[in-house]
Amino acid sequence: MKGLVLAGGTATRLFPLTIVTNKHLLPIYDRPMIYYPIATLAGMGIREVMVVVGGKSVGDVVELLADGEHFGLNLTYRYQRGAMGIAHAIGLARDFVGDDSFCCVLGDNVLLGPPLDQAAREFDEGPCGAGTLLYEVADPQRFGVAELDPAGNVIAFEEKPAQPKSNLIPIGVYFLRPDAFGVVETLVPSRRGELEITDLLNHYLPGNLFTRRFEGLWTDAGTVTSLIRAAELAEQESLAGHLDPPPARP
Ligand code: G1P
Repeated sequence: MKGLVLAGGTATRLFPLTIVTNKHLLPIYDRPMIYYPIATLAGMGIREVMVVVGGKSVGDVVELLADGEHFGLNLTYRYQRGAMGIAHAIGLARDFVGDDSFCCVLGDNVLLGPPLDQAAREFDEGPCGAGTLLYEVADPQRFGVAELDPAGNVIAFEEKPAQPKSNLIPIGVYFLRPDAFGVVETLVPSRRGELEITDLLNHYLPGNLFTRRFEGLWTDAGTVTSLIRAAELAEQESLAGHLDPPPARP
């Protein structure tokens, strides 16, 4: 499998922190935000990773991650103009992905917990067209939200609904196949002007989407409150001996 980290966007929810700084460079406890999604992909055993960059100080992101050797990865980069959404950014990886399946992790998602190599392998070898990880949150209206049938199967996702149908959200980890690029071409921009990941996932529902509950601790870090929460969770995990120190500079 290949890997994709999405680190574009304008990060207006973090202004003025992100007026001149790229969101993904902001500190979360003892390391820059983007180290977390990079580690999530490395933990799956993935080696070939593309980072989609955009917004401010993109050169600093490249300087920080360099060729990825210190993460045990082989990194390549692609530039996303504007902020046209997650599904649009995924579309930029078409040539990089080729015929392989791939995992896309959002650059502001912090996953603290067991490695996801088994989930990645199960998706890769399984029949489903796409996949994501589910997590229970107290404030689902901030995210994509799952609608479940009586048996507990996901039947659809709604992006940032005013009245969420559950507390279960798809976190920013998406398992995909090259088939997704054709689906991205059929998507239309949402009210916020973006090609939404939940519309892409809905293409595979019901019945053709791989889902697993994420068993660790998760948060995004795209708002001031969640940025602080991410740092607190990382500190907690580090003090408990569950978070490896950040890799040394190349
Ligand atoms: C995005 C997705 C949403 C998902 C969330 C996870 O939200 O659109 O479906 O639940 O990431 O972090 P955004 O960061 O664009 O608000």
